[in-house]
Amino acid sequence: SEHINISPSLMTMDLDQFKEQIHFLNDHVDSFHIDIMDGHFVPNLSLSPWFIEQTRKLTNKEMSAHLMVTDPAFWVQQLINIKCEIICMPAEKINGIAFRLIDQIHSAGLKAGVVLNPETPVQEIMPYIDILDKVTIMTVDPGFAGQRFLGHMLEKITELKKLREEQGYHYLIEMDGSTNKEHWKMIHEVKPDIYVIGRSGLFNLADDIQSSWQKMVAEFE
Ligand code: DX5
Ligand code: ZN
Repeated sequence: SEHINISPSLMTMDLDQFKEQIHFLNDHVDSFHIDIMDGHFVPNLSLSPWFIEQTRKLTNKEMSAHLMVTDPAFWVQQLINIKCEIICMPAEKINGIAFRLIDQIHSAGLKAGVVLNPETPVQEIMPYIDILDKVTIMTVDPGFAGQRFLGHMLEKITELKKLREEQGYHYLIEMDGSTNKEHWKMIHEVKPDIYVIGRSGLFNLADDIQSSWQKMVAEFE
């Protein structure tokens, strides 16, 4: 079967099986998805640069940080300090500093992405889209696992694919939020490059990560 590029959302894993899950996933994924919140941009807290450093002791796969913060400049610097491979910034909070932040990330030899919340159109990132390494489309309101799936956000994936093809851009397209069995049919029609999968799509499917993964793959097909 074709390779599915899954990026597990680690804020939704079972902490009592931290090591087992990372060890298993290390052999099956290209990257890990790390949600970083500040309690202001979204009303929650989750993972942190410290968590990334700890996880790195168990895997050398790429870490992709999803910033849900009102002050991206501060967090970008923290993530550069620990050499987080992919830094994804909220499109809604980088107006006026986008080029400086993207250049800063690239100068450190890391990849730069942006995340579009449901209310944010692709149009918003056009000024700098050509220098992005990844664009993440939120298919839920951010901040928590298990939110209502917003299917029409998938249209942005089609739009981004078309733009990439026409213009020769190089960004990867990722989707994040309630990526699970209930929505696979719709999702397959647009085929993002990377699927962020959380609780309902992976970690909650069984008691151990190996069975959960097998279930996920079976549901995907
Ligand atoms: C939502 C986060 C997602 C989330 C995914 O704010 O950005 O990464 O944890 O979990 P599910 O797929 O369970 O919604
Ligand atoms: Zn996320």
